[in-house]
Amino acid sequence: MNDPSSWPDRSSLLRTCTERCFALLACLLDMVACVETDKDPGESAEAWFSESCASCHGVNGDGRGTLDLPSPAADLRTVTLPGGNSVEAIIAVIERGVEKDFLVTMPGFKGRLPPEQIEAIARHVSRWMVKE
Ligand code: HEC
Repeated sequence: MNDPSSWPDRSSLLRTCTERCFALLACLLDMVACVETDKDPGESAEAWFSESCASCHGVNGDGRGTLDLPSPAADLRTVTLPGGNSVEAIIAVIERGVEKDFLVTMPGFKGRLPPEQIEAIARHVSRWMVKE
């Protein structure tokens, strides 16, 4: 082993090193991907609700957000939508927003949030809402 001629040459060392490096990187990426996909969709919906809705509706949907609104946000635990509180009806409200007396009281989220996110939020809030 002490005979330098038996040592691996530089280029094969470099190759092994690069290969290991890539393997390690791939492994790390896998771990990250795994953490991402293992996330409970309910948990991200909750985070999305907090981000997009809670300032007006409150973190638990009771309509007591931190924003001072000209007309109060709905208490999602008691509100009943005209067509009933189906996930579809809630999605429609989130997309369209609410306009009352020509005033936008709640902004529409269509185009501002990806459809999967809107649906996840709708499913999340439907758990609080009155069932038909
Ligand atoms: C800028 C404040 C604001 C934000 C942000 C907001 N809302 Fe609202 N929302 C309101 C107000 C105000 C009302 C009450 C509308 C009214 O009756 O005039 C309302 C009403 C609603 C209603 C009941 C609609 C109806 O027809 O009675 C639902 C459901 C709702 N919001 C869900 C959400 C969800 C889910 C989000 C997040 C994606 C959200 N809102 C974001 C202010 C907001």
